[in-house]
Amino acid sequence: MITTRSLTKRYGSVTAVRSVDIDVREGDRYGLLGPNGSGKTTLVRMLLGLVFATSGEIEVMGCRMPRHASRVLRDVGALVEGPAAYPNLSGRTNLKLLDAAGPRGDRRTRRRRIDNALEQVGLAGIDRRPVKAYSLGMRQRLGLAAALVRRPRLLILDEPGNGLDPHGIRDTRQLLLDLSQDGVTIFLSSHLLAEVAPGSGSSIAGGLSCRRASIPCAPLPAGSWSTARMQARWRRCSTGRSSTGTAPAWWSVIRTPRH
Ligand SMILES: Nc1ncnc2c1ncn2[C@@H]1O[C@H](COP(=O)(O)OP(=O)(O)OP(=O)(O)O)[C@@H](O)[C@H]1O
Ligand SMILES: [Mg+2]
Repeated sequence: MITTRSLTKRYGSVTAVRSVDIDVREGDRYGLLGPNGSGKTTLVRMLLGLVFATSGEIEVMGCRMPRHASRVLRDVGALVEGPAAYPNLSGRTNLKLLDAAGPRGDRRTRRRRIDNALEQVGLAGIDRRPVKAYSLGMRQRLGLAAALVRRPRLLILDEPGNGLDPHGIRDTRQLLLDLSQDGVTIFLSSHLLAEVAPGSGSSIAGGLSCRRASIPCAPLPAGSWSTARMQARWRRCSTGRSSTGTAPAWWSVIRTPRH
């Protein structure tokens, strides 16, 4: 569903993402773990065609990105850091506008799909309040509802647990597990090991056993977390050249295939 080859993004002298190869297959729940500033959001933005890669290749659902973005994105639900919404409009109206803005937003089913998405994220009942009156966690839930409203085949979620309370994390985890059971492929990033670690009760991506990690993990280094070191670590991890051991991961990928 998602393949990248030697994907790299530079902002001037900063290499945000360096030579990353990932391979997410249909039905996977794929958790990407990395510390602050390690390039998770940049990677997600490239997958969605929101920023151009400096070099490397991206395929999403068999199509090159960003060239085929308009064809591909109709089947993708996405949540990227700090989801935006019109602050003076209600959550429900925001979802209506979003749904009407592109293909796949069938008018006849819109109301039902929006009701369902609001219910799924626990916003039913408060969806008529203007978004400016939403708390951080409520905004995050609205972002998740926006990702779900078109019933996507692939969900790309950047730190879906941001701002959520323990109930919200538990409910989101259950929701993602249910969607996974229904055949939705899930790619999510997090800086919290607990959110992507398999077998962790509080984990969003976990819950079932992890069959394999696609990228060898380097151990958490002591000392400073400089960007240069992070990038070096990631490069070593992503090219499989780490010889320094396994978890706790500095950068790791945890993939739970559908059973
Ligand atoms: N638009 C930009 N211009 C310049 N540098 C950027 C830009 N966006 C990201 N960066 C840099 O790229 C690196 C990776 O940032 P990114 O936001 O992708 O990290 P992240 O893993 O999502 O971090 P966090 O866990 O804090 O969300 C950082 O060094 C950041 O400063
Ligand atoms: Mg980020």
